[in-house]
Amino acid sequence: MTKKRKCKKYGIINSNYLSIVGQNYPPTKIIDNIYNNIHVKHGEIIYNKDYGPDNLINYNNIIDFRKAAEVHRQVRAYIQKYLKPGKKIYDICEQIENSSRIIIKEDGYLRGVGFPTGISINNCAAHDTAVYDDTRIIDKNDVIKIDFGTQINGCIIDSAFTITFNHRYNSLLEAVKESTYTGIKNAGVDVRLADIGASIQEVMESYEIELDGYIYPIHVIKNLCGHNIDKYKIHADKLVPLYDNGDNTKMEDGEIYAIETFGSTGKGYVYPKETCTHYMLNKNSTVPRFRFKKTKQIYNHILQTYNTLPFCDRWFNRPDGGSYTLHRNNGKISAYNVGLNELCEKGVVSKYPPLYDIEGSYIAQYEHTIQITEKYCEVISKGIDY
Ligand code: CO
Ligand code: CO
Repeated sequence: MTKKRKCKKYGIINSNYLSIVGQNYPPTKIIDNIYNNIHVKHGEIIYNKDYGPDNLINYNNIIDFRKAAEVHRQVRAYIQKYLKPGKKIYDICEQIENSSRIIIKEDGYLRGVGFPTGISINNCAAHDTAVYDDTRIIDKNDVIKIDFGTQINGCIIDSAFTITFNHRYNSLLEAVKESTYTGIKNAGVDVRLADIGASIQEVMESYEIELDGYIYPIHVIKNLCGHNIDKYKIHADKLVPLYDNGDNTKMEDGEIYAIETFGSTGKGYVYPKETCTHYMLNKNSTVPRFRFKKTKQIYNHILQTYNTLPFCDRWFNRPDGGSYTLHRNNGKISAYNVGLNELCEKGVVSKYPPLYDIEGSYIAQYEHTIQITEKYCEVISKGIDY
């Protein structure tokens, strides 16, 4: 018998999380049925040194966030095992989203996927995902950012990691992981967001990387940010910059933040490129009269299925249109281009195109969703992998 050669992976601490929590590979068990058996039901707690250990506060919705985080941990444990060179980007996206739907027991926008799976490769930083006829595959030298979301009642977990199959990127991954944890460590009530940015930049830029005999400095990406999260609103009103941008806004008690950092061997500045795949409904825009009947149909589908959560056009091509619970196998929207364009032109839907640094550069990302309180910070999405 020949022994299967294991594919080495960097960027995560290899974990056997699924067997620890009693989940199958691929996942088949619903979170509510196994949640009671899971030992740790909250994220990592970092106590404020002025207070020391204390009881946790039961903020509104924190249980929904914690459950969504547990789903996130299980889905990523599955996908970290599944990922290897030669896998199709399309299949990775669908596996992540389908297993999220299974574990969370998808119910339209009440519970399910938080936003389209971001799979952004090498010099692409964010907002890339598979299109329905995508033929791209993962290469053994790729730097792969996987950013996906799970949500229950609009409580969205936004968390991302970077994975590679080549150890030459290790200092880039370490720089970004350390920067994200620095941002988390410095978060707290009354902390200036720009001060968190300054601490992130300091750590990030203390690293460099050698590639093909050249030494590259590692830059933060200045036009990407962390953000706070509100119910059904992935990007609320506050930004956590990756440098001191002079903003005096502070963190407040009870707020939920996605702390994410990006390190790049390029310019540290991203620009939009290529066809857009990420979209989101603007809830407060008034609904205009539409030129095409199709536009109204698409609008209703978005409102009913995703509401104000981000979506991608790949979901229109699924038989269930993105929710089996709502549409069974009658949810597919065909020939949606003209209607989707009209929604964007009229400002009802916004576009979020993929963002790139210069050709030939490499970008890594790590992200966790946290809650800020007076006495501690809870890293809700923390796992044994990152
Ligand atoms: Co994210
Ligand atoms: Co985010």
